[in-house]
Amino acid sequence: MNEIIRIEHLKKYFTKKGMFEKESNIVRATDDISFSVKKGEVFVLAGESGSGKSTIAKLILGSIKQDSGKIFFENQEISENSVNLEKIRMGCQMIHQDPYDSINPRMKIGDIISEPLEIHNIGNKNERKKRVIEVLHEVKLEPAQEIVKKYPHMLSGGQRQRVVLARALSLKPKAILADEPVSMLDVSIRAEMLELMQELQRKYNISFIYITHDLATARYFGQRIGILYMGKIVEIGPIDQVLLSPKHPYTQALIDAISEPDPENLKKEKEIRIKDPSNIDILKGCRFRNRCPYVIDKCTVEPNLEKIDDEHYSACHVKIN
Ligand SMILES: Nc1ncnc2c1ncn2[C@@H]1O[C@H](COP(=O)(O)OP(=O)(O)O)[C@@H](O)[C@H]1O
Ligand SMILES: [Mg+2]
Repeated sequence: MNEIIRIEHLKKYFTKKGMFEKESNIVRATDDISFSVKKGEVFVLAGESGSGKSTIAKLILGSIKQDSGKIFFENQEISENSVNLEKIRMGCQMIHQDPYDSINPRMKIGDIISEPLEIHNIGNKNERKKRVIEVLHEVKLEPAQEIVKKYPHMLSGGQRQRVVLARALSLKPKAILADEPVSMLDVSIRAEMLELMQELQRKYNISFIYITHDLATARYFGQRIGILYMGKIVEIGPIDQVLLSPKHPYTQALIDAISEPDPENLKKEKEIRIKDPSNIDILKGCRFRNRCPYVIDKCTVEPNLEKIDDEHYSACHVKIN
């Protein structure tokens, strides 16, 4: 198998802040999540805010520890204190939504980009300087010799996100975890940033986990997609199959929410809204059932992901269309 990252039955629960540790106060942020990312593939994790996207990214990079489940990088399991943890920290870089999460406003751009090289003891001072200029060219921040001397506040939001991309590229990563990398940018420069990521992804065959709540950019950039709902993957498969012929009612609702206001869609959207009012966590059965227009008795039993087509799976008891 030509996989770069694989996660198996990953689980991470949180207790709501200031609450006792009883069942109704548990947030099942990541609940038995499994998927793999192939070499050179862009895998999208899509879902609403709070569905558990960032938690998965943090688990993969080891900034938080899973309750159970396994993470593999190049087919080797990552566990604390293992050499594999160091391997993934070098081979897999992160791009955050907010550039200020990964860049220190008091450091010059040159130092920000060369910091990962220093941390991992790569090259001497001159080689690192050369690499910094190289990656600034890659992300089209010119003139690179001038940019290195600047501070983050002297750049625009779009330029800062290019610095973050340059920093991620400095170590020549095999994979990049991009957590909503364009959602804080102005709409006008989002497309540029996505095009740049796609260009570099193809040029260096970098695998991506692209995290987003935006299905339009998902379709532009991704090859496969996992749809997250309250810590569960409810549908997964090749991007065109999932987005053009969605099988899970939640995926359908997400797509309807962004599609043209055709009368059929409006009707469906209304149905979803009618069932929407409850925010109560569902402890047993399908988590979407209090919002689902197709709910049946059986939905009190948790549905598993079931095969629809080659690589296309959906977790729903009701077979729609
Ligand atoms: N450190 C934490 N402590 C308590 N709850 C958390 C923590 N991190 C995330 N959560 C909860 O887990 C759920 C998923 O969060 P997150 O992964 O950040 O979602 P997303 O990135 O999709 O918006 C949310 O309900 C969030 O409030
Ligand atoms: Mg997030």
